[in-house]
Amino acid sequence: MVIAALGVLPEYQNSGIGKSLITKVEAEAEKILKKRLLVSTSNDDLPALAFYQSLDFKIYEVKPNVIAEKHGKIMSGVGGLPIRDEIRLRKVLE
Ligand SMILES: CC(C)(COP(=O)(O)OP(=O)(O)OC[C@H]1O[C@@H](n2cnc3c(N)ncnc32)[C@H](O)[C@@H]1OP(=O)(O)O)[C@@H](O)C(=O)NCCC(=O)NCCS
Repeated sequence: MVIAALGVLPEYQNSGIGKSLITKVEAEAEKILKKRLLVSTSNDDLPALAFYQSLDFKIYEVKPNVIAEKHGKIMSGVGGLPIRDEIRLRKVLE
């Protein structure tokens, strides 16, 4: 199952909502016998990388520069870091 987009409004972040949403998605995925949860994020998004890894997602692929190429320019991301690379993570379901 692919998680296409996940966002919690800034004023509600760090209060367990993201974790709770992923737990629910995981339960739904298991119900329909999916074997993996997949998600991708960008190189700048260190909070999201920490978030997913804290929930047992592991990086399995890095696609250097694909986001920069897709947009034809380098945008500024979290903390002013350049957004370049796609980082793919997955969680294997039991
Ligand atoms: C990433 C995001 C979805 C996390 O949602 P959240 O509701 O803030 O996260 P939670 O409160 O459920 O955090 C769960 C765990 O993730 C980790 N975590 C979350 N944010 C973190 C951060 N900024 N730095 C380090 N760890 C973090 C913590 O370990 C936390 O566990 P704890 O509360 O027991 O310490 C949210 O910050 C967000 O919407 N960010 C902007 C959009 C985005 O980047 N989306 C993902 C792109 S794919």
